[in-house]
Amino acid sequence: MKIAMVGSGYVGLVSGACFADFGHDVVCIDKDASKIDRLKAGVMPIYEPGLAELVAANVKSGRLSFSTDLASAIGGAQAIFIAVGTPSRRGDGHADLSFVYAVADEVAAQLTGPAVVVTKSTVPVGTGDEVERIIRDSGTAVRFAVVSNPEFLREGAAISDFKRPDRIVIGAEDEWARGVMREVYRPLFLNRAPILFTSRRSSELIKYAANAFLATKITFINEIADLCEKVGGDVQDVSRGIGLDNRIGAKFLHAGPGYGGSCFPKDTLALLKTAEDYDSPLRIVESVVKVNDSRKRAMGRKVIEALGGQDAARGKKVALLGLTFKPNTDDMRDAPSIAIAQALADAGVNVAAYDPEGMELAAPLMPGVTMTTGAYAAIEEADAVVLVTEWDAFRALDLARVRELARAPVLVDLRNVYEPSDAAAAGLTYTSIGRA
Ligand code: UGA
Repeated sequence: MKIAMVGSGYVGLVSGACFADFGHDVVCIDKDASKIDRLKAGVMPIYEPGLAELVAANVKSGRLSFSTDLASAIGGAQAIFIAVGTPSRRGDGHADLSFVYAVADEVAAQLTGPAVVVTKSTVPVGTGDEVERIIRDSGTAVRFAVVSNPEFLREGAAISDFKRPDRIVIGAEDEWARGVMREVYRPLFLNRAPILFTSRRSSELIKYAANAFLATKITFINEIADLCEKVGGDVQDVSRGIGLDNRIGAKFLHAGPGYGGSCFPKDTLALLKTAEDYDSPLRIVESVVKVNDSRKRAMGRKVIEALGGQDAARGKKVALLGLTFKPNTDDMRDAPSIAIAQALADAGVNVAAYDPEGMELAAPLMPGVTMTTGAYAAIEEADAVVLVTEWDAFRALDLARVRELARAPVLVDLRNVYEPSDAAAAGLTYTSIGRA
């Protein structure tokens, strides 16, 4: 089957490469000519483990190609995916759909044969209806249908999430479109991935409800962690104790500095806007957004406390390990490290940082922070070492060496990577999340 993927960013590129790997004939399209040139030369626009190899193998096999020319690239495609960005609209938090609608316009103008137009971008309820209206109003005589097919890929694990999904959600209003989508995902059916066919509006809502629920789960355990610190509990045990209940589930119960990234912060806000538009308040999600925002700033205060308080902190040096919103990505969007670096700068603390992939994108977001060449380089002469993002490289630090290099023996572990007893044995004063 021939598939066109409009938008060669994170979602489009991963999905396109995986569809090609399943044997489909895929063209990834983008209007950014330099991005397409780089992709043709094998240079990835993002850091995602395994992606460069997957792209190279499928380009070599002739099943994956790149183009800036939408008109010719969609010719003969039975499925045309829209996978362009839907950033938060400046100022109001609504999802900005201008890129989606621009693609719909262009597809409408260039459609030459029957095709299913699939929105893979994260779009608010009703967007599919509008895409359908745009194409219909173009007066095209070609048969088409508009389908919603949200993605559930986690950055850093996107390829395995695509190839071994928990489920595939397809929102389609007609049987022909469902048949085409069945063909698109047939290789995954063979792996018995559950596929849920539903209405287009339900499908659009499933995406936002899933992300809002996961954000809620994280925020819930983060507040329980705060309570653990006050009452002398251990959030790791509480999390395990509730997660073993199948009705709750163990995943996304890891307490930390607050969720970040390109999805949860943006999608929770967009969902709240939809709720407001339809006068159907989502008070739980409202609280989640507020609690998570204030948590990131609170993490900065936690570090300042570990330094001995506001007065003692001034002029001291902190080493931040890990800047990206999570490991195995270079993505800095809404990363807790940004709020932490800001709070430290405001308190007159000098910051040295290291991240395996994120420093280039981080540097402009945290002016004044010195980027270093490695974890131990950042730790040298530090008055506190703060583990912000749990990259593998920080999971097995030589704690004795940390103690030796740092000026003061203070370790603040915002991801509970270390055992308090190991830190104590190395002579470190250890603060973590939800462990008294
Ligand atoms: C998230 C969802 O997990 C994907 O299913 C979804 O497709 C994607 O958003 C999207 O909408 O595109 P992602 O943002 O890549 O994926 O990353 P997650 O692994 O979900 O982590 C999000 C944030 O939550 C990170 O800051 C992470 O550190 C934090 N987190 C996650 C916790 O603090 N605790 C946990 O237990 C899990």
